[in-house]
Amino acid sequence: MVDLSTTYMGMHLKHPIIASASPLSEQPGNIKRMEDAGASAVVMFSLFEEQIKQEAAALEHFMSVGTESYAEALSYFPSSEEFHAGPDRYLEILYQASQSVDIPIIASLNGITNEGWIEYAKKMEEAGAKGIELNIYYIPGDLNVSGREVEQRYLDITRAVKASVSIPVALKLSAYFSSLGSMAKQFDDAGADGLVLFNRFYQPDFDIETMEVEPSLNLSSRNQIRIRLLWIALLHGRIKASIAASTGVHTHMEVIKYLMAGADAVMTTSALLRNGIGYLTTLFDGLHGWLQERGYESVGQMKGSMSQKNVADPTAFERANYIKILERYKTPYTT
Ligand SMILES: Cc1cc2nc3c(=O)[nH]c(=O)nc-3n(C[C@H](O)[C@H](O)[C@H](O)COP(=O)(O)O)c2cc1C
Repeated sequence: MVDLSTTYMGMHLKHPIIASASPLSEQPGNIKRMEDAGASAVVMFSLFEEQIKQEAAALEHFMSVGTESYAEALSYFPSSEEFHAGPDRYLEILYQASQSVDIPIIASLNGITNEGWIEYAKKMEEAGAKGIELNIYYIPGDLNVSGREVEQRYLDITRAVKASVSIPVALKLSAYFSSLGSMAKQFDDAGADGLVLFNRFYQPDFDIETMEVEPSLNLSSRNQIRIRLLWIALLHGRIKASIAASTGVHTHMEVIKYLMAGADAVMTTSALLRNGIGYLTTLFDGLHGWLQERGYESVGQMKGSMSQKNVADPTAFERANYIKILERYKTPYTT
């Protein structure tokens, strides 16, 4: 038997495959099913800052009759009935699930300001979360907000959440930073225990007949791993925080590629939504079989084998690769 164990955010996991945040975890029974199918940990669906504020605003509204206490921003968001689970229900699901499984459950907080909602991190810890995944899904629509301010926002939220809990905290990031490597180091300094690379930004489409914005949520595809492979390979061994790969894991081959790049853990959602929770077993068996056939003794032996840990100048290395790719391309039209 190959030793598949890994350490993610200081947590010892029996193997690297984690079920990432998705509606599947809305049912406590599903979290148990994911454990039975072999998940080494489960990230719960997100509790959104807007949900927490909506509830607080509703309470305030009832308490102070006659005042208009709903912030305009909140009016864009789904009503509390439309959210799958409000803050109390979230904590209840988390508590129930944490009582019924042995694997770690990582709770997910999703927000963009450094305000009161952060106290929910503590409540999540009390409800049994073994870690927090912080998803700062922020699209700076204000043209006066500089990159530096955006970065500061991320760092402030990270520090605030870290200060409020004693369990590890990971950040689920997008790739849209000018210098992701520098940000990763700053997250290290702010105390982040893990980085999840990367979030997918759900990009809208237009219906040109009705002239409406169509919010579309497509499941991922395998080729979306590449930007993640690049950054995981660049960061492996150079930051303190653990690295989890997220997006595009549809077969054990993506798991292997991410591990070779240097990920400590590999997450999957779309594959489970498409194939069912039992697909976790297929991924695990595929990983184990592949390592066994090639004589690996452990996941650790493979981890980071394709990273750039030993490349003296990764910038020059990447630039050389880019130029090589362009040079090698043969257009089909040349005679
Ligand atoms: C239907 C659906 C719901 C999701 N809900 C959340 C969520 O609540 N919080 C979150 O951080 N990510 C959420 N995600 C993102 C996934 O956790 C994951 O990062 C993303 O789908 C990429 O991984 P994949 O290629 O394995 O699907 C959701 C994704 C899907 C498809």
